[in-house]
Amino acid sequence: MSVDTREANRRLNSHAGQAPVWLFGYGSLIYKVDFPYIERRAACIRHWVRRFWQGSHDHRGTPEAPGRVVTLIREPGAVCIGMAYLITPAVFAQLDVREKNGYLRFATQLDLGNGEQAEGLVYIATEENAAFLGPAPEAEIARHIAASSGPSGPNRDYLLQLAAALRELDAHDPHVFDVERHLVDLLARERSAGGS
Ligand code: SIN
Repeated sequence: MSVDTREANRRLNSHAGQAPVWLFGYGSLIYKVDFPYIERRAACIRHWVRRFWQGSHDHRGTPEAPGRVVTLIREPGAVCIGMAYLITPAVFAQLDVREKNGYLRFATQLDLGNGEQAEGLVYIATEENAAFLGPAPEAEIARHIAASSGPSGPNRDYLLQLAAALRELDAHDPHVFDVERHLVDLLARERSAGGS
């Protein structure tokens, strides 16, 4: 079931002032930067892992056939590498629309490298949201992604672009790279079946 978190995020917004805010991106926010920012830095947050466990009814799937996109799941000791953007609070109006299918803004501690830390915000789709799909084996997630598409394009592009962006960041993410490997195998099998 799809969900709309725009109103909840507006109410949650504790950054109504003018001071710039750090936003941590770990999914499409790493590679699809269609919003203005003041500064961008590779960053990480602790005790979270990236998982393709969130349904996408509005970007990489449809209400009838949701795709799969990433969210963060708590895991003590884990490190999640992504990209931090320093933005003005006004930009959240645009981002809340983009992330409206289940993502809420949470405060988090960001590690900006060189020992620098900052308070920031991160969009997380928790398991309480109606669009949450939950865990599945990586091969099954890859099959699901291969078959899904939505207004923002094929679900496979989301996965392949995210995996490429993580490699550029030198971020080894076994879950994402495993799903990617299964998808690449699947596409190769489809191509050879189509060509024979
Ligand atoms: C994020 O990228 O930080 C949130 C999830 C997404 O938009 O893919």
